[in-house]
Amino acid sequence: MRVTGIRMRGILDSRAAATVEAEVTLADGTRGRGSCPRAIAPGLRERPIGGSPALGPLPAPAARLSAVVGPADTQAEVDARLADDLPAVGVSAVLAVSVAYARAGARATGVPLWRYLADLAGTEPGMPRLLVNIFSGGIHDAGPARGYQQVMAVPRTGSIVSDIEVACRVWAAAAAAARQCFGEPGLSASSGLMVPLDSAEQLQLLTKVIADTGLTGTVRVGVDVAAEHLYYRGAYRLGDRTLTAAALAEVLCEQASRHDIEYLEDPFDSGDESSWRALPQGLPASTRVVGDDLFATDAIRIEPGLAGAILLKPSQIGTVSGVLAAAARAHDAGLAICVSHRSGETDDTVICDLATALGADLIKVGGPRRGDRLAKYNQLLRLAEEVPTATPAPTRGEAA
Ligand code: PGA
Ligand code: ZN
Repeated sequence: MRVTGIRMRGILDSRAAATVEAEVTLADGTRGRGSCPRAIAPGLRERPIGGSPALGPLPAPAARLSAVVGPADTQAEVDARLADDLPAVGVSAVLAVSVAYARAGARATGVPLWRYLADLAGTEPGMPRLLVNIFSGGIHDAGPARGYQQVMAVPRTGSIVSDIEVACRVWAAAAAAARQCFGEPGLSASSGLMVPLDSAEQLQLLTKVIADTGLTGTVRVGVDVAAEHLYYRGAYRLGDRTLTAAALAEVLCEQASRHDIEYLEDPFDSGDESSWRALPQGLPASTRVVGDDLFATDAIRIEPGLAGAILLKPSQIGTVSGVLAAAARAHDAGLAICVSHRSGETDDTVICDLATALGADLIKVGGPRRGDRLAKYNQLLRLAEEVPTATPAPTRGEAA
């Protein structure tokens, strides 16, 4: 259906930085809204996000994008036109309109957003499992940028509802442990705890918290190394050490076995392909290597052998159709699918519907604190009433 009007405005993200929200009106009067999250430091391979907008009405980009999408009738056509204009206006304006069009399109056809997205993608919907930010580090922390960006809990109870309960328990227990040692912990933009511990110590504390809450085997561990931000002149700066790729691989493999790491994101710089390809040889079979900055949600970057999963971030590529293309290519290449927030989030919950539509394995929504993150947890609770759980509970004897 054709677009008859677009309104855009600058709104606040979870760091109180400005980002773009759009409202699209279709020919039958149906409306939809969407917004674009922003990262603290975007990956090197991402599409340009565009300048930070002013708060309040943004009539000029709204008029421009109205003209751009004017002749388009479908999500694919709208997104193709938006993608052509992306270099000029940036991802933040383009993604807000693309998501708003999807919401309006879903409403106009009388289906929920997840169903609309699944129909576009031709995928089997299912509830994802959670990646729950417990400790923030690296450039997401106020301290020196020399640690892993996130140390996460990865619950697997067999249902998203009890996964969320467990996530809240683990997060609260980690906060209590941190409070006892260091006083009230700070909260990062993605609602992870900020503690004066290095990455190895964070992993030790999380493993202890999981054990103390009686959840060993039910909750595994996830790490976002975000190694692009540790990489400097051919080596990796971790804490006070400078490591070769081989030495970093050794550290990661040892930690993966010791701390039951299920999920290992961006272990190396995106250009360090030989290290990516070699890593699985030293890792436990149940550790999944995930490409975030590596693929940047771009279908043309996806090839088998680099990683076992892709992290999809709509704001890396700019349009709903761009994300669906990356998901399709990743699926064909045998990669597992994970969908992710950004460090600067709005209260938009489209990633929950997207993950569900794709039957994604995992979704990363940050720690269960503050409105922008809770909006996602709560949307997942709503979706769980409509959509079956994709991942069955672990069978007896399956590796914990
Ligand atoms: P970013 O990180 O939004 O700062 O890139 C988010 C993530 O990878 O969890
Ligand atoms: Zn990442």
